[in-house]
Amino acid sequence: MRKQINIGLFGFGCVGNGLYDVLSNSPGFKADIKKIVVKNKHKKRSLPPEKFLYHKSEILDDPDINLVVELIDNATDAFEIVKEALQKGKNVVTANKKMIAENFSELVELQQKYGCSLLYEASSCGSIPILRTLEEYYDNELLNSVSGIFNGSSNYILTKIQNENISYETALKQAQELGFAESNPKLDVEGYDAKYKLIIVAGHSFGVFIKPEQVLNLGIQNLQKQDVEYAKQNHKKIRLIAGVYKTDKKHITLFVAPRFVDKNDPLYHVDNEYNAVTVEAAFSDKQLFIGKGAGGHPTGSAVLSDISANAYDYKYEYKKRFQSHQVEYTNDIEPEIYIRYNHKNILDKLEISSVSSFGTNYILAYISLKELLNKKELINQSGSLVVFTGNFKTPYIKQPSLLHVSLTNSE
Ligand code: HSE
Repeated sequence: MRKQINIGLFGFGCVGNGLYDVLSNSPGFKADIKKIVVKNKHKKRSLPPEKFLYHKSEILDDPDINLVVELIDNATDAFEIVKEALQKGKNVVTANKKMIAENFSELVELQQKYGCSLLYEASSCGSIPILRTLEEYYDNELLNSVSGIFNGSSNYILTKIQNENISYETALKQAQELGFAESNPKLDVEGYDAKYKLIIVAGHSFGVFIKPEQVLNLGIQNLQKQDVEYAKQNHKKIRLIAGVYKTDKKHITLFVAPRFVDKNDPLYHVDNEYNAVTVEAAFSDKQLFIGKGAGGHPTGSAVLSDISANAYDYKYEYKKRFQSHQVEYTNDIEPEIYIRYNHKNILDKLEISSVSSFGTNYILAYISLKELLNKKELINQSGSLVVFTGNFKTPYIKQPSLLHVSLTNSE
């Protein structure tokens, strides 16, 4: 039976505000925000100041509050709050992807130890209900890959640059003004945000909890006009893609990187702050989920859905983690990359296996994922842009999994 939910809400930024609106406009839903705790006493907010409290104990020590909703920015503080709430026997809903990705195993253990539930649908791909879908719908099906556009801000920026010829700086400013970007937008454009979401998705797809520092994230921060021109000349667009892929029966690999996509790829047509997730499974084949990946209301709606699930005592069971066919993480694959450089000497510093072709200030070459992970900072600091072509040298990854989900007609 549905129980009365008394919410203690931490944070009242973009998502907190969004949740407040969504909740206020969901008649019949039995959940009250009993207290709101925020950090900054002087920040101007959409509700009167008497609605806010400033110490975490106001919520954590209140026996009437049976659900903590954590929507603050700082991942370290968020972890402290979530940990204490679970230890005190309170269920928690959070949207904090960095906090989950960095403390995944410990958070699962805490839930088991204290018999509480931690739900975080809003952490990954905004309004797309991907986590519960992976947990429930694909609980027994063997997955081959889960991949797509996991960051709304960078997709918004890429759309504005490629479709409307708007500058990178203007597009980023717009993404910030629209409330899509993280307070530190580097997390968006450098692929960190997508990586945190990918780690969570991988945990629910394959039962493997990988540490963020093990996973390659390349971003779009060094994108230049000539990169966009190159893509255009080849009838492609650049998208920032996150993905976890099975490489053989025992291994999976994960990475976030810009990639060229052509018109036959549905991701070519996913614009602005929309996210898209392609799930490839052994029997159901390919399925594509599209929805708004950022913004107060879409993310607030995912939080609301978790609050509602909590009313029915829903818990993640981490089913894949406890299945017999466990897989391990590998970065032993060799993607083909386009690397555009400002100074040619960056090429001397990279261990490139083979060059496929070259132009005035770019090459197409095969390089190991391990090497890209080791030299990531060097590449980023040199101003070079790396874009995956979608080809792989190793026989492991079946290329079509990564590339062609043909839902549109080819031209
Ligand atoms: N900054 C994130 C994005 C917000 O742009 O996708 C949603 O997680």
